[in-house]
Amino acid sequence: ARCIGRNQERTLAIIKPDAIRNLGDIVSTIYENGFTIARMRMIKLSQNEIMYFYGEHKAKDFFPRLVEFMISGPIVAIELVGSDAINRWRSIIGPTDSQKAKEQGSHLLRARFGTDGTRNALHGSDSATSAQREISFFFGSKYGTNTACYNDTTCC
Ligand code: TYD
Ligand code: MG
Repeated sequence: ARCIGRNQERTLAIIKPDAIRNLGDIVSTIYENGFTIARMRMIKLSQNEIMYFYGEHKAKDFFPRLVEFMISGPIVAIELVGSDAINRWRSIIGPTDSQKAKEQGSHLLRARFGTDGTRNALHGSDSATSAQREISFFFGSKYGTNTACYNDTTCC
């Protein structure tokens, strides 16, 4: 799973505590959209771990709400591989606020499985830098690269 092809990209998806029961539908949607799952892990994070993961938001008013929600139950972290995976996954889940997602289209994953601006069912990395950091957080850095792979000797 560590070697990815030309034009392939990695991103981190998270199924949040409110959507764990929908794991099956979400995995189906992932494959229907042409992604590969490289690695996947179910875990219940501690408060410290989730505060570190969402560190960029620590000064925001919603931060305590976000942390409380994210430690309320297990989550599933998924390393996705696909073409334009970072942006494509974010457009499949939809806008941060699930209510806005419902206005934009019932097929969006946050429309299907989310409730509001905090309980929004899914996460997606917002850039290659974030993807690298977030994949490392859950899986270790060893294979977490977005470097283009032209043949088996350049990056495998
Ligand atoms: P953010 O990175 O802005 O959104 P996204 O997940 O779409 O990249 O925010 C991170 C999480 O923080 C978001 O998924 C849910 C939570 N959050 C709130 O609870 N309230 C808010 O007003 C915002 C903007 C985010
Ligand atoms: Mg974000």
